[in-house]
Amino acid sequence: MNILQYLNVHNLSFAKFVVLPFPKKIMLRTHTCGELTIRDTGKNVTLCGWVQGTRDLGGMTFVDLRDRYGITQLLFNMDVNPALCERARTFGREFVVSATGKVTVRSNKNPKMVTGDIEIEVEELEILNASKTPPFTVEEQSDGGDDLRMKFRFIDLRRTPVQKNIILRHCLAQEVRNYFNKNNFLEIETPFLIKSTPEGARDFIVPSRMNPGQFYALPQSPQIFKQLLMVSGYDRYYQIVRCFRDEDLRADRQPEFTQIDCEMSFVTREDTLFMFEGMMKHLFRTIKNIELPDFPRINYDEAMAYYGTDKPDLRFGMKIEDITELVKGKGFKILDEAEFIGGICATGCSEYSRKQLDELTEYVKRPQIGAGGLIYVKFTPGDTVKSSVDKFYSADDLKRWGKIDNAKEGDLLLILAGKKVKTLKALSELRLEMGRRLNLMDREKFSPLWVINFPLFEWDEETQRWYAVHHPFTAPNPEDAHFIEGDPGRVRANAYDMVINGIELGGGSIRIHSRNMQERIFRRLGFSETEAQEKFGFLMKAFEFGAPPHGGIAFGFDRICALFGGSDSIRDFIAFPKNNAARDMMTDAPAQVTHDQLKELSLEITHPC
Ligand code: AMO
Repeated sequence: MNILQYLNVHNLSFAKFVVLPFPKKIMLRTHTCGELTIRDTGKNVTLCGWVQGTRDLGGMTFVDLRDRYGITQLLFNMDVNPALCERARTFGREFVVSATGKVTVRSNKNPKMVTGDIEIEVEELEILNASKTPPFTVEEQSDGGDDLRMKFRFIDLRRTPVQKNIILRHCLAQEVRNYFNKNNFLEIETPFLIKSTPEGARDFIVPSRMNPGQFYALPQSPQIFKQLLMVSGYDRYYQIVRCFRDEDLRADRQPEFTQIDCEMSFVTREDTLFMFEGMMKHLFRTIKNIELPDFPRINYDEAMAYYGTDKPDLRFGMKIEDITELVKGKGFKILDEAEFIGGICATGCSEYSRKQLDELTEYVKRPQIGAGGLIYVKFTPGDTVKSSVDKFYSADDLKRWGKIDNAKEGDLLLILAGKKVKTLKALSELRLEMGRRLNLMDREKFSPLWVINFPLFEWDEETQRWYAVHHPFTAPNPEDAHFIEGDPGRVRANAYDMVINGIELGGGSIRIHSRNMQERIFRRLGFSETEAQEKFGFLMKAFEFGAPPHGGIAFGFDRICALFGGSDSIRDFIAFPKNNAARDMMTDAPAQVTHDQLKELSLEITHPC
């Protein structure tokens, strides 16, 4: 949807967003390259844009002129104006030109383009700027590789698929604002230069010139500030805000990314789930014309048991089933000794060949997944079974394993065994791989859910201490609070994640709003009193001055854009993203700074300048 269609669909006033069509010639052009049709025949117009390509047919020269609204054909006639025609022939790709002339009906129409019925018979021509030959083609499918396109991102951004993504992002941001504004939320900005606080990832640190030896951090999220805004009485807050995390990058992670950050006062979990589910439904309704049903909720424990992950993709079933007890005790050592044996049922796959099964075995044995091997059972025609372990198990034993998803003739069971947590994780990956192979992950199907009742703490073997699963400001479920000191692993968090198609789009919680509870959590997380005071004294002090009960969420805005745009990579929806090494390929940041700059910041010099 382009901006014009978007505004039409939403009945929005043009005056509000200064957009085309221009009422009369303003600035250098009268129209865009995407709007003139047969109805405009005879009009005198001026268009400006980039030369997409020229075709020289002897007596005639055609130039495709492009801007972000579309392409219009310019016609230069050798018989009518040979000088102009000669000039047009000198245009290179991506020249910026202004052309004035009459709209005429084309003899060779192109029904695929809005402007395909007309062309402009050019009478005046101005080259606004020449261009070097671009390093790749500015077309739907460019011939430029990823790195090259990132280096010349300003050219890449001219391509239609990239523009569509950027426009989609704009439309989504507008609808986020519409929804929250209608619901009485205030958009409030919070600082970017803040105190370093732990939120899971590493901070980006900024030295302070005026305070030698001291540092700001860039916010990983506005978490603490939005809580303080609740204490200040701004009971409904949102912000579309940049966040910074120095963490390893993946397709769905950037070092600087954007959150839709929200918080509400005087709410229970039900209220926040309702409000934020409402936002997502609003986005689907207005942007995609899809009415989402109420989101199902699933406990963290169930998500882990049935899908091996806390972000299950519910576009398809294929639940994991625990068959440990059914399998053990038949004298097959590896399985008898396994802590956990589980499997999934791939419907209609009993005909899988040796090659296909070998591929799946290799898949689960990859170091990232780490399974020792893969066991299969085929439910073949005539009530027979074939398996990689039929030396150890009778046909009747194997048929009993068919309780997995009620396997029937034609189905294939895929089974993994080993340590419980690792095996469930591997089964989760195998389930997704089968989903991909069986085309069960339709990009235009959307399966949202809430994952609730996460544990509040998780134990880390390496550092031998408890960590907060979300962040240390999440309230425990009231009925579990008495386990905080004695049995922290049993405390459930009053937290929730929104997941759609296996993507964690947002996470939030009801917060702690009493100093006493916050102190207990910090203690449990191993903070000394002095440390807690030094890092979060201001928050705990605020809790002593009338902090209301509150809760909220933050959505990953880039991830929402990618989901709506049908892509796995959030980079495609960010105008100037970083690459996987956290570099901006275009400006070549990060880069060294001068000796003088470092000196000014009172920083030790560790590299030659
Ligand atoms: P959390 O850390 O879960 O919660 O972040 C919220 C959402 O932000 C998105 N996200 C990212 N997107 C792109 N690149 C990244 N590096 C990245 N990291 C996170 C995800 C995630 O669900 N303050 C809390 C929220 C709260 O409790 O209200 C927070 O930031 O979609």
